[in-house]
Amino acid sequence: MTKPLLDLIRQQKIPGAPPVWLMRQAGRYLPEYRRVRAEAGGFLDLCYSPELAEEVTLQPIRRYGFDASIVFADILLVPHALGQKLWFETGEGPRLEPISCTSDLSLKGARAHLAPISETLSRLTKSLPASTTLIGFAGAPWTVATYMVAGRGTPDQAPARELARTEPEKFQEIIDMLVDATVDYLAEQISAGADVVQLFESWAASLQGEAFDRWCIKPVQAIISSLRAKGFDTPVIGFPRGAQGPLENYVRRTQCDVLALDTNANRQEVSSACGPEVVLQGNLDPQILVAGGEELDAAIDVILEDFANRRFIFNLGHGILPETPPEHVAQLMARVRKAS
Ligand code: CP3
Repeated sequence: MTKPLLDLIRQQKIPGAPPVWLMRQAGRYLPEYRRVRAEAGGFLDLCYSPELAEEVTLQPIRRYGFDASIVFADILLVPHALGQKLWFETGEGPRLEPISCTSDLSLKGARAHLAPISETLSRLTKSLPASTTLIGFAGAPWTVATYMVAGRGTPDQAPARELARTEPEKFQEIIDMLVDATVDYLAEQISAGADVVQLFESWAASLQGEAFDRWCIKPVQAIISSLRAKGFDTPVIGFPRGAQGPLENYVRRTQCDVLALDTNANRQEVSSACGPEVVLQGNLDPQILVAGGEELDAAIDVILEDFANRRFIFNLGHGILPETPPEHVAQLMARVRKAS
């Protein structure tokens, strides 16, 4: 049995209908997720319980038959594994005890701390349909560091930018530790069965020029080259959301295999700037999925047309919104699968 999404990345063939999955496809828009989430107690309990995490990972696959399944976890489990305090305030999002250097952090216990996520992946290799590509993931170092330094999500990532500017050596130590932890974490996920891994750089937009190069490109480049040096040829999806510079530059420098486009990326421009060896992913506006109806069909058709002559993976430009009606996802699947 072949896996259409993995095959698309590995081979140069352009298929009829593109493979499709959605960022945050497991989550609060699904009633069956909310039930398991309530049963688990906290969000972190759910992430660290392989049996429950497996179940919520499978829920959207059962409903919609996506071509890929992304393991249920969170990018903030890595700082947690390094020893930083982490909790989720209901209805508000993540909270961490802010740090400004690595002195209270350690790589030592990280692998053992993250072992439940590998266990979830390993269970999924047995429970997923044989045609479903299994995706592992981690946050890219800059994005993870923005939460570590601010202690929460921020609109402009000011605390991390300030630390990077005023104490670059200290900030570099945080980034270096995240690079090491992420290489190890992704290697474990791949060994447990991940076919592909995605690096989420959700806050690429707040850095420009040299800062973007130093804190976004170089760490991702280091992660990918370390994985290759360890003998893993697993495809890597890069997602530099809102990145200001030319995206073909990001691909060339980081050596990611797939470039995930955010909602605002210009498909035609990126498509002509990136060679045919680059697989693109994206980039339906999650709000149009909330709207549904003819507007949704029309937006899907434009994306299919813009990418018609190249290898691409249908996805959203950012995570699915909690208020998304589940039937709109079914509508999306029918429309994308009908394409040929
Ligand atoms: O289905 C999947 O995509 C897999 C699971 C997944 C989650 N988070 C589960 C989650 C993935 C890939 C992530 C990545 C993640 N986490 C990112 C990068 C992607 C992006 O959206 O930019 C970031 C920045 C985080 C950090 C994070 N986790 C925030 C800011 C929040 C609060 C906002 C929110 O949506 O609630 C979370 C919580 C979170 N992570 C939830 C889920 C399903 C909701 C928690 C709940 O169920 O109460």
